[in-house]
Amino acid sequence: MLLLTLLLGAAATLAAEGGQHWTYEDPVLTIRSHTSCFCRKASPHGQDHWPASYPECGGNAQSPIDIQTDGVTFDPELPALQPQGYDQPGPEPLDLHNNGHTVQLSLPPTLYLEGLPQKFVAAQLHLHWGQKGSPGGSEHQINSEATAAELHIVHYDSDSYDNLNEAAQRPQGLAVLGILIEVGETKNPAYEHIISHLHEIRQKNQRTSVAPFSVRELLPPELGRFFRYNGSLTTPPCHQSVLWTVFSRRAQISTGQLAELQETLFSTEEEPSELLVHNYRAPQPLNQRVVFASFIEVGPSRTTAEMLGLGMGILLGCLCLLLAAYFIARKIRKKRLGNRKSVAFTSGRVAAEA
Ligand SMILES: *[C@@H]1O[C@H](CO)[C@@H](O)[C@H](O)[C@H]1NC(C)=O
Repeated sequence: MLLLTLLLGAAATLAAEGGQHWTYEDPVLTIRSHTSCFCRKASPHGQDHWPASYPECGGNAQSPIDIQTDGVTFDPELPALQPQGYDQPGPEPLDLHNNGHTVQLSLPPTLYLEGLPQKFVAAQLHLHWGQKGSPGGSEHQINSEATAAELHIVHYDSDSYDNLNEAAQRPQGLAVLGILIEVGETKNPAYEHIISHLHEIRQKNQRTSVAPFSVRELLPPELGRFFRYNGSLTTPPCHQSVLWTVFSRRAQISTGQLAELQETLFSTEEEPSELLVHNYRAPQPLNQRVVFASFIEVGPSRTTAEMLGLGMGILLGCLCLLLAAYFIARKIRKKRLGNRKSVAFTSGRVAAEA
């Protein structure tokens, strides 16, 4: 009887946590530098195994995706996305939580989105990142290029559903904003509101309070250029209920901020501590889906090298034109001078004859 109670208790705990244990590791070759060996990490809970416990993870409209910009459809009807209430999320402190898979900040429903088919109110935001010394960390890719990290701001259709959990299981129940984060020169003060508190929640299930700050500042300044598609949660149970908006412009954090993100949190509650790293899912097949773009000049934003090349090209072009103009001008002048000489000669001869 006692055993049965214990078993039921354990089952209930599992159910409350949302089911089976899952991790990000997949059975690919992992290089362990500290042991200098090639170790095959065959985790039975890694992302390749999610569909076994969570069938929707094997669905045909999964996220993230690799957005190929030459394959997107320009939609001039896509309205601008307007985050409302983002600047001032009220007076209450916000809950910051290490849930073992990510760091998550609770958001009040006074933050909401305009510019989507329904009103979507905010519930939480969280981050995905890579690990020290290896590239990548974002979930979405643009033209097969991943960035160092990615911010997801999760919203639900509050007109149709009572809460996030209910909406998460319904088509179009959720709207998530995806912001690709790259490493820049300077510390990003908005991200610091989250990153500076990470050391308070190092272990799984630890929480802390964060003073409210402008969530708008976590987004790139320009929100006009974005991609839109139907997809899923990027973690189990992978419900295919998300209307995704992935911004073309990136946010930037400093090298130090990225290091803190990669090296502070643990994915475990007890010893042995395991660093919470590489919490991003690999891109999923697009299948029959269409990715819409709010803008037409698709393609990766130009790199400095490309801009330099373009500048040199224009300069060279101008130089050629100038040279051509110079030679033409010289030719014309020569011709005129020649004419004048002959005129002078003629007039001279006329004068002599006279
Ligand atoms: C998403 O799916 C719904 C329902 O099938 C459809 O009406 C809508 O146009 C789709 N949106 C996008 C961005 O593909």
